[in-house]
Order: sequence, then structure tokens, then C-alpha cells
Amino acid sequence: MDKLIVTGGCRLDGEIRISGAKNAALPIMAATLLADEPITVCNVPHLHDVTTTMELLGRMGVSLVVDEFLNIEVDTSTINNFYAPYELVKTMRASILVLGPLLTRFGEAHVSMPGGCAIGQRPVDIHLDGLKAMGADIQVENGYIIARADRLKGAHIVLETISVTATENLMMAATLADGETVIENAAQEPEVADVAKCLIAMGAKITGAGTSRIVVEGVSRLGGTRHRILPDRIETGTYLVAGAVTGGRVKARDTDPKLLEVVLQKLRDAGAKVECGEDWIEVDMEGRRPQAVNIHTAPYPALPTDMQAQFMVLNTIAEGSSTVTETVFENRFMHVQELLRLGANITLEGNTALVKGVESLQGAPVMATDLRASASLVLAGLVATGETHISRIYHIDRGYECIEEKLELLGGNVKRVPA
Ligand code: UD1
Repeated sequence: MDKLIVTGGCRLDGEIRISGAKNAALPIMAATLLADEPITVCNVPHLHDVTTTMELLGRMGVSLVVDEFLNIEVDTSTINNFYAPYELVKTMRASILVLGPLLTRFGEAHVSMPGGCAIGQRPVDIHLDGLKAMGADIQVENGYIIARADRLKGAHIVLETISVTATENLMMAATLADGETVIENAAQEPEVADVAKCLIAMGAKITGAGTSRIVVEGVSRLGGTRHRILPDRIETGTYLVAGAVTGGRVKARDTDPKLLEVVLQKLRDAGAKVECGEDWIEVDMEGRRPQAVNIHTAPYPALPTDMQAQFMVLNTIAEGSSTVTETVFENRFMHVQELLRLGANITLEGNTALVKGVESLQGAPVMATDLRASASLVLAGLVATGETHISRIYHIDRGYECIEEKLELLGGNVKRVPA
């Protein structure tokens, strides 16, 4: 397994292109299962999780063609089974997104239960309860969810907890159900709205996606379309924070500042100069050390949990003390132990980290634990003196396209080597 060697001490300065959003690409690839005509998905990020989704669809007999611009054409007319095996689902929880589409279009689905996951328990009860409310018969046998339905029926569903993928799964299931489905307390993430945009282009009748109340009027079939995935706001935020922690300047292109309002406000609070155009954002710390900023994660439009670890690094080397409170996942502080190895001063109290800014970090061997935690270690390595060796980096490749090339474009020194 490869590892990354980050040599710290440089101030990032430059411009990069932002990829399509992983968290929209995965549900939209699953949504192609709903269509009886080919769908072309554009601006798909080149990531392990996307490859896993393609493999998942391929194992069902779905035909996938990737063109020279990396657009993916998905044709479900060759599908011959409705099975999502454990060996794929265990590497990517988002595989659960095929459940709603398979069940509503083909009347059956066998999807492995995702296991626990490092950042928390992450059950799928909200997905299953919603589908049951729509009339599905769901049994869990030998670690597999076995779901059946003649035709799902529209239902009034109130999500107990705001869940992004459950909202998407139920919205997709509702598109081909009989009658109207209302999803209350729905996730409002822009990726949910992007999935809805694609579904609407396929012929679905959906209103309210991107708000907490989504209404879907079921239709009898969905057809083909061509959909361009929206920019990845978490990748954008990660590179902007990387610029800020190194006291440098980063311009992110092909992104959308409207998706990052809270993140940009936090960067301004940290002392960065932030400028935006229609599809670009530039953050410039002008050589200054960031000021500590308090962080409190919550579902969109609040500060995303997927940016918590990166802001923790900013606070680690900031002037002053701060609190970082995680409210979405119960165990998303694994990066803290690793940051302590680099010389951070962080104390954990329940779901809050008390961070006292230190003037510098020192490079050390560290281990990546989950996707965003891994990114935070790269950021920490960029400010630390000497070399930081990050092992178990497969997590990074699940969510960041060409991270070392992009950082190199910004002047960072990051090398991938066989461990
Ligand atoms: C999605 C994102 C992930 C992000 C997360 C929160 C994708 C592919 N992944 O993950 O990057 O970190 O949203 O913004 O879009 N929960 C339940 N029961 C359920 C489902 C969820 O209790 O059936 C709980 C979870 O344990 C967690 C909370 O709900 O505490 C939110 O999780 P959820 O929004 O479902 O995360 P994902 O959709 O898996």
C-alpha cells in the first residue's frame, strides 16, 4: 500500500481546478438504474469510490462506457441481477444508494448491510424505514438486505435524523412509486438538489429538493439524459484551508462560491482575504498566521462535518484557542491522536475538541483513518517542519482526485511512494 511523504514549510501559491462532487457522482450513478434509456454523466471525478460504484453496476450486468473526456455512459438495458455484494459494499457505504432505485424499478434488491465505520455507527435504519413506509417488504438475512415490492406507493415520510444518502435513496425510490411521496426533515445538501436535477431531466416530478421538504409525484418510467455533476465543495474547501494554514494563496477554479458560504466566512474570520467570481474563489492569507475560529458542524447549510478535520488543523496552528464541536458523527475525531503526534495541543471533551494554537508542528509518521481525516493530515504535513509520512492513504484516493498533483501545482511538496 502506498504512503504519502509531505515535506512541510512551504507557502502554497497557485491555482487549481476543482473536480466534480463525489457525493453527487455516487447517487447519480445509482440513479441511472432508474432509467430505461442510456444516461451520460459528465464531470465525474476520478476517484476510488466512483470506480467501486462502476464495478457495482458492472456486476449487475449494466453496460458502462467511458469516453476520452471521462464522461460515463450508463445503459441499464443489459442488467441481469439486483445484487450488491458485501465485498464492494464494505469498502463504500454509499453502495446502499442502489437499494431505492433497484427496488422501485425492478421490484427487488439484495444489498449487503454496510458494516460499522470508523467515524461512527452509521446505521441504515432511516433508509429501510422509509422504504417500508412506501410498502416494501424488507428482511435482513445473513448480512443482506432483501427488499421486495410490486410497486412502491407514495408515502408521507418524516426522517428521524437528517441523512443525506437516506434522503437521496427515498427520493429516487419515490420517482417511480405510485402517487405522491413527501419527505420531511430532508437533507438540504446541494448534492441532493443535484441528484434531483438529474432525476427531473430523466422525467421525474420533484419539487423542493435542496429544502427540508421534498415532494415527489411518481411517474411510470424515466428516460435518458446527460448530466454534469456540480463542483465538489468539500474538495474546494480543503484546498482553500490548505492555502490558509500555510499562510499562502490558493485560487480554486470551476467551483461555486454559493456552495461554501459558511466555509468562506470562517476563512474570513481566520483573517484570510477571500475573493470570489461566478465560478472561482481565491483565499489569500498574505503570509499571516490564521486566527483561531470556533467550529460547530451540522447538516447543510451549516458548516459541513466533512470540513471539520481541515479546520481543526487550521486551529492547531492558529493564534489563540478554539472549540471544534462535531454534531453529525459520534466518533469523528480520530485525526486528533495523529495531530498530537505532530505537536498539536488538543483536548477532547465529549464531542468537542479544545484546541490551543501552537506556533509550529513537527513532521512525524502518522496514519490516515478516514477520508477527511486523511486530508487533514496532509494539510498538517504541509505546515509541519520536516517530513510527515502518512500511511494507509487509500482513504484519500476515495475522495480526492490527484491530490499530490494538485498540491504540487500549488507549490506543495507531496510524494507518493510504495510503503
Ligand atoms: C453523507 C456523505 C458524507 C457526509 C455525511 C454528512 C455521501 C456519499 N456521503 O454520508 O460525506 O459526511 O453525509 O454530511 O453523500 N444515520 C442514522 N440512520 C440512517 C442514516 C444515518 O442514524 O439510516 C445517522 C448517521 O449515523 C449520522 C447522521 O445520521 O450520525 C448523518 O449521516 P448521513 O447524512 O446519513 O451520512 P451519509 O449519507 O452516510
